[in-house]
Amino acid sequence: MDNLALLRAPFRIALPWGMSNHAAAMGARKKPTKNGSGKPLQGKRASSAAQTEAVAPEDQRPPQHAGDQPGTRAEPGASTRTEPLTDLEPGQGHGRAQVFLGDSRELLRSVPECLESKVNLIFADPPFNWAREYEEWDDKMPEDEYLGFTYDWLDGCIDALTPTGSLWVNIPDTWAAEIVVHLKRTRGLTMINWCIWHYRFGQNTTGRFINSKVHALYFCKDPNSRTWNAEEILEPSDRATTYFDPRTHNKKEGVSGMRTPMDVWYGKYWGRIQGNNKERRANHDNQIPEVYLERVIRACSNPGDLVLDPFLGSGTTCTVARALGRDTIGFEFSEQTARSASQRIEMGPVRIDPAEPTRHTTAIFAPRATRNPG
Ligand SMILES: C[S@@+](CC[C@H](N)C(=O)[O-])C[C@H]1O[C@@H](n2cnc3c(N)ncnc32)[C@H](O)[C@@H]1O
Repeated sequence: MDNLALLRAPFRIALPWGMSNHAAAMGARKKPTKNGSGKPLQGKRASSAAQTEAVAPEDQRPPQHAGDQPGTRAEPGASTRTEPLTDLEPGQGHGRAQVFLGDSRELLRSVPECLESKVNLIFADPPFNWAREYEEWDDKMPEDEYLGFTYDWLDGCIDALTPTGSLWVNIPDTWAAEIVVHLKRTRGLTMINWCIWHYRFGQNTTGRFINSKVHALYFCKDPNSRTWNAEEILEPSDRATTYFDPRTHNKKEGVSGMRTPMDVWYGKYWGRIQGNNKERRANHDNQIPEVYLERVIRACSNPGDLVLDPFLGSGTTCTVARALGRDTIGFEFSEQTARSASQRIEMGPVRIDPAEPTRHTTAIFAPRATRNPG
């Protein structure tokens, strides 16, 4: 076996997996609207004049995650559709892509692929509960309520996964610890990596350090039978690009001059999607970079697998998954957002090349004149 073949060898063993103890209560509190209807105003922001300052101090908030649209929270059952809103057929190297409208907690328990535990990989980037007070509705759940919501969708995700499946959660400091404890201690999953997505240009603060990261938590049901394709995500090593160390070209394991990425992710195209970034979608200030989803999907799934995103937003996960030949399902509460995401999924990625994995160096020092890794 050559080096690449060795790295490619998947380890898959079927494991019996118990069903979860779903949280009994799924209800989410909603604030009565000004017109007294009590209905959430989906996909719509309160006018700027109506906005009041966030409850949480501004300098404690992670960067704006605009897809967490205020007012898009409703009681389960209000608008969930178990027929897909859009359904893109597979073909020409693309997987099938289905987008469902509704509350992910319900969809995780009603869409057949979830009920039958057929999902190979889940990437979840949930709303962060950022304490914004609007005139017509309240986007902040009390902490216990938000945690109940969180445990509920996490449990739904675990049940939807195959025994060899993996779950990734993108989450800020505020909730990372609770999620890790729930997945590890309460639900018995194995944590493979606690990665950090590091970005520049966090919200400016003077009284504390500037936030410049989000946690990318990588869990699986069975560490001995997960899908892991290291060769798909290799990047040039610092030893090769900066120190010209010949040992990197003679190693017995791995690939000459290449390494598996480190668990802190940054670099070219890893910044927040803002300004005139060509990936940016209108009305989606909270997009995750395509290279982030490329790394997760290439590493933790195979072509033909099923990749699910319970909080679709602008559709990054499903866009990248479909282009990489995976079938994919996205859940989104806002119809406007879901329709926009569906268009993006059909259009395909603009940054990554599905035919060739992205392999940029992340070295931060200039190449040395002489070999000296120290
Ligand atoms: C943080 S954004 C996801 C951003 C996405 N990762 C991207 O790259 O564009 C979260 C999304 O989840 C949606 N959402 C919030 N609560 C939901 C729920 N209970 N069920 C389904 N979608 C929900 C929001 O409308 C928002 O679009």
